[in-house]
Amino acid sequence: MVLQHDRPTLSTRIDAVTGGRRLRRLRQHDWSRRLVRETELSPADLIWPIFVREGAGADEAVPSMPGVARRSVARAVEAAREARDLGIPVVALFPFTTRDRRDDRGSEALNENNLVCRASRAIKDAVPEVGILCDVALDPYTSHGHDGVMRGGRIDNDESVEILCRQALVQARSGCDIIGPSDMMDGRVAMIRETLDAEGLRDTMIMSYAAKYASAFYGPFRDAVGSNDLLKGDKRTYQMDFGNAEEAVREAAQDIAEGADMIMVKPGMVYLDIVARLAAEFGMPTFAYQTSGEYAMIEAAAGNGWLDGERAMMESLAAFKRAGAAGILSYFAPRAAAALRRG
Ligand code: PBG
Repeated sequence: MVLQHDRPTLSTRIDAVTGGRRLRRLRQHDWSRRLVRETELSPADLIWPIFVREGAGADEAVPSMPGVARRSVARAVEAAREARDLGIPVVALFPFTTRDRRDDRGSEALNENNLVCRASRAIKDAVPEVGILCDVALDPYTSHGHDGVMRGGRIDNDESVEILCRQALVQARSGCDIIGPSDMMDGRVAMIRETLDAEGLRDTMIMSYAAKYASAFYGPFRDAVGSNDLLKGDKRTYQMDFGNAEEAVREAAQDIAEGADMIMVKPGMVYLDIVARLAAEFGMPTFAYQTSGEYAMIEAAAGNGWLDGERAMMESLAAFKRAGAAGILSYFAPRAAAALRRG
């Protein structure tokens, strides 16, 4: 019984059971911890999602996402400048669309002067060093809040794909560098690639939301883009079932075969197993989306003083790198990049 040993005997016993391999040895100093750290987050790993709104003037707070706001196009350009200065390579643009610009076909998605297109052009013009990612999906534009179009009460895959291809084209022509199909329709990556190539847009990249789950962790995002009150039913006929991992492998394989340059898993924190698995299995640049709900969870707890928000932010982002992600879409991007630069 250990308690009966005197100290030297105890130490000898511990050396015997550990074989002298004392793993705490490397954790003694800040310098030794830094020396052996396996993965490290950098501003270059971050993609900053930005919400854009019509009109000019001050930012509009999104109550369910403390610290996140809907910005005018001019303020979105300022965000892109901030991204450049912080070393964040890419901003992702999401439009807040009021009810009057929505219809059941999401027609506004095809308007080359819609908010996302205007913001893309303005950012490309002012800050060409920063990459622009745009979501391809109809939910910011439909009156029913779904990512595709409805026919007979169902989301019609092929008809939706046809519209999504045109949406991708309109966005690419406005300066979007990376098309991010987030709609989960079948065959859309190949059809989008074909459409872009046919129009001479061979350099436009595709980051597919390869494994996107039907998730409760998108709630605050739907507030931010104005879809929450409109959404009829749920998205389970196209977004994935959270019980499935093998299916994520099939989804990713399919998107890669269809021409995706990069793949993404979403949500992120709750699906780190999928991130790790896809990164290891395909060796493709694999991204993770730390979604609005995951952000809100940390912010809400931090706001109540229940955890140290700054530390939780860094720890949560580091987890993605450890899992093998090439990068992370996160609303923390500017704060995390600033913290990383401070060291
Ligand atoms: C649109 C889209 C969603 C998100 C990104 N693109 C919402 C959804 O699918 O309902 C969620 C992002 C977030 O929660 O931060 N298809």
